[in-house]
Amino acid sequence: MSLSYFYMLLLTPMVLDSTSKALENGTFGGNNNSTNNNTGPIIPLDISCPALTQRPPPRNVSDLRADDIKAVIGLGDSVMAGFGAKGVQNEQYISIKTLKEARGVSFAMGGDQGIITIPNLIQYYSHSLYGASVGDQIFTVCFGDQFCPGGQYKAAIDVLNGAQSGARSVNLDHELDYILSQLDQAYSDNRIQKTDWKLLTLFIGSNDVCHACAVNTSLPEHYAINVQLVVERVRLTIPNVLIQIIGMIRVDEIFVATLPYASYCQPFPRSDFVLHDHECGCAHSETNRTIMANLLPQYNTALEKVASFYQSPLYANDSFAVVFHPLPVDILSFPIQAIRKLMYTPISQKPQQLEFQADAPIYCPTDSDRLQLK
Ligand SMILES: *[C@@H]1O[C@H](CO)[C@@H](O)[C@H](O)[C@H]1NC(C)=O
Ligand SMILES: *[C@@H]1O[C@H](CO)[C@@H](O)[C@H](O)[C@H]1NC(C)=O
Ligand SMILES: *[C@@H]1O[C@H](CO)[C@@H](O)[C@H](O)[C@H]1NC(C)=O
Ligand SMILES: *[C@@H]1O[C@H](CO)[C@@H](O)[C@H](O)[C@H]1NC(C)=O
Ligand SMILES: *[C@@H]1O[C@H](CO)[C@@H](O)[C@H](O)[C@H]1NC(C)=O
Ligand SMILES: *[C@@H]1O[C@H](CO)[C@@H](O)[C@H](O)[C@H]1NC(C)=O
Ligand SMILES: *[C@@H]1O[C@H](CO)[C@@H](O)[C@H](O)[C@H]1NC(C)=O
Ligand SMILES: *[C@@H]1O[C@H](CO)[C@@H](O)[C@H](O)[C@H]1NC(C)=O
Repeated sequence: MSLSYFYMLLLTPMVLDSTSKALENGTFGGNNNSTNNNTGPIIPLDISCPALTQRPPPRNVSDLRADDIKAVIGLGDSVMAGFGAKGVQNEQYISIKTLKEARGVSFAMGGDQGIITIPNLIQYYSHSLYGASVGDQIFTVCFGDQFCPGGQYKAAIDVLNGAQSGARSVNLDHELDYILSQLDQAYSDNRIQKTDWKLLTLFIGSNDVCHACAVNTSLPEHYAINVQLVVERVRLTIPNVLIQIIGMIRVDEIFVATLPYASYCQPFPRSDFVLHDHECGCAHSETNRTIMANLLPQYNTALEKVASFYQSPLYANDSFAVVFHPLPVDILSFPIQAIRKLMYTPISQKPQQLEFQADAPIYCPTDSDRLQLK
């Protein structure tokens, strides 16, 4: 088995070093005193925004606000699984602690106390929100051309986060199998209703582009079909859902940016195994990185097409929508805070390049803001 699928590891030294410090510092934590009013609901994150005026649940997916979302669902890879997301532990890049999936802090699906994540930002307005992941788990893995071994999900931790480390678009079906079984359970346990509004975040493709120089099934044409198929399956099986597809980032740049980290690029103790050499197969030569960089726009075009396909009157209806959020992120920064505001920003007004600022203010939605569909 090759470890080349863990492209998230590439992020470990440069971004996560500061992430772990910021987590300790509480910089990502907003106001970590969510129960400061004994009478109030217990929420994981207090963002000190004004409450939204209550109203009956909307009937139209184009009318959604954060307080309408009752479940969050995730499909993706190691980034969504929170692989290594608590950063370098005990100053060792490669250690069992660092190599965990910190699902509770995943930007798209985490629900740990005091962490700024999409679910926690939603739960501030929707107290019974279901689906966010909590805590850590040992890393999961998908490998080969299309294989994710069974039995890797830990429902108590993952909840409705179907992401698996190493997953490519071809593995989305496997992930959705898990989600559908968990949703059935949640309906029958009365945790959520079928008619509740759900926000499904899809963030996949970095492992596809990491193999695009080597296997045809990782090329944009296959990727487009895989994504379209899973979205169609969601449409036919999950009622009342808004799918937000997050655009792909420049994985090839991460590889280059991590090269200077000498200790990260050292072999494991008592071996000559250098992890960095095995990550993201196509990133290891300039020629292949050029292929990756040149293909990247095609992956994003594929995602954009899936979203626009479902905007056609043939498929769009009041209970289902797909929106594409490109993520032109400066790879030396980090996308967490950026995405939140994007959810409220029409595509036409989105910035050209996003940069991470640890002290960026949290956007407080108003009564008239809606989750944008275009
Ligand atoms: C942690 O907090 C200290 C004091 O508030 C601040 O000077 C420092 O920059 C913070 N570090 C990070 C990584 O946010
Ligand atoms: C928030 O508070 C909890 C409980 O006191 C603590 O475990 C957690 O580390 C804190 N989080 C941050 C980001 O400070
Ligand atoms: C949390 O809020 C309570 C009540 O407002 C306050 O007494 C307490 O000092 C706060 N704790 C922190 C760590 O800010
Ligand atoms: C705390 O609760 C009291 C009433 O129980 C309310 O008047 C006050 O506004 C609340 N404070 C916050 C910060 O929510
Ligand atoms: C739902 O919203 C869309 C877009 O605003 C609109 O075209 C459609 O007519 C609405 N449906 C109903 C039943 O109001
Ligand atoms: C590019 O990747 C392919 C597939 O892994 C490999 O066979 C080839 O040698 C690589 N090319 C270069 C120039 O490294
Ligand atoms: C992959 O695609 C290339 C170009 O379309 C083709 O020449 C090659 O035969 C394909 N390889 C496989 C294994 O299908
Ligand atoms: C929207 O489409 C889904 C999937 O085809 C279908 O189950 C649902 O009944 C449709 N809703 C409306 C209001 O037409």
